[in-house]
Amino acid sequence: MGKLTELSLVVEFAGLRLRSRTMNASGVLGMSAPLLRRVYESGAGAAVTKSLGPTGRPGHSNPTVVEVEGGVLNAMGLPNPGVGYFADEVRELKREGITVVSSFFASTLKEFSESARALSEAGSDALELNLSCPNVEGEVGMCAADAASVERVTAAVKAASDKPVFVKLSPNVTDIVQIAVAAEKGGADAITATNTLKAMAIDADFRRPVLANVTGGLSGPALKPVSLRCVWEIFDAVEIPIIGCGGVSGWRDAVEYLLAGASAVQIGAAVRDGGFEVFGEVNAGVLEYMRRNSYGSVAEIVGGAHRE
Ligand code: DHB
Repeated sequence: MGKLTELSLVVEFAGLRLRSRTMNASGVLGMSAPLLRRVYESGAGAAVTKSLGPTGRPGHSNPTVVEVEGGVLNAMGLPNPGVGYFADEVRELKREGITVVSSFFASTLKEFSESARALSEAGSDALELNLSCPNVEGEVGMCAADAASVERVTAAVKAASDKPVFVKLSPNVTDIVQIAVAAEKGGADAITATNTLKAMAIDADFRRPVLANVTGGLSGPALKPVSLRCVWEIFDAVEIPIIGCGGVSGWRDAVEYLLAGASAVQIGAAVRDGGFEVFGEVNAGVLEYMRRNSYGSVAEIVGGAHRE
């Protein structure tokens, strides 16, 4: 007879106490306090902001989004109102008791440190470093392609803030393991794997690239096997926890990420069209999977596919 204990999704993650292991992926519904509130009310363990820059940016011209086989391509160009403006939204969310992860990017160490300080002072529970946007390489650089830069930026942010720091990595690199190890050396508290995969679409009738930026970041189901492989590889190389991100649209995807070595998942493309219920579905589905397979905790699932 199994014990009649209450199964729980509550987790101590990278120094945070989360009520579930789901979050929204940065960039999806993270532009305002009301949308982040809905993410949280729908069952996410934390709400993740759209990536914020030191100052506001209008982003790229349209078209910025196109559906492709197996997913969505986007090249928004990191549009955002700036850290200063958004700090007030973070304060509002914190007044309501919502767990907030502030995602941000910058081009210099000084800007990274200043943004980290401002977002921490506003009350963010954790910071997520977006070192990996594929669409603004010429402007802010794709820092996540270089291990030494990742270590330096992570260390600078850790020195400027006492909050847990998640480092979000790019799949557009030769060896993501080397980059994850550099983030850990820099003091990262968790790795988010992964950001979008650089891709493009061409219209046969117009004979031109569809996106104004020509290339964009691929997310959705087509990204899942790539990010899953990244999580699998990183799990063997670092001690810090991993957040799986890429193509999660149901509990089965989440369980696959847990088995690969993730301790939490972020959900992006599946929420984009207002599918807030996905957080509750994934949470309930993981609990049901635990019951069916006699797991006592989610921690027992993490990395399970690595064991003989
Ligand atoms: C954008 C940023 C990202 O980090 C990403 O993965 C895709 C798109 C952007 O704002 O262009």
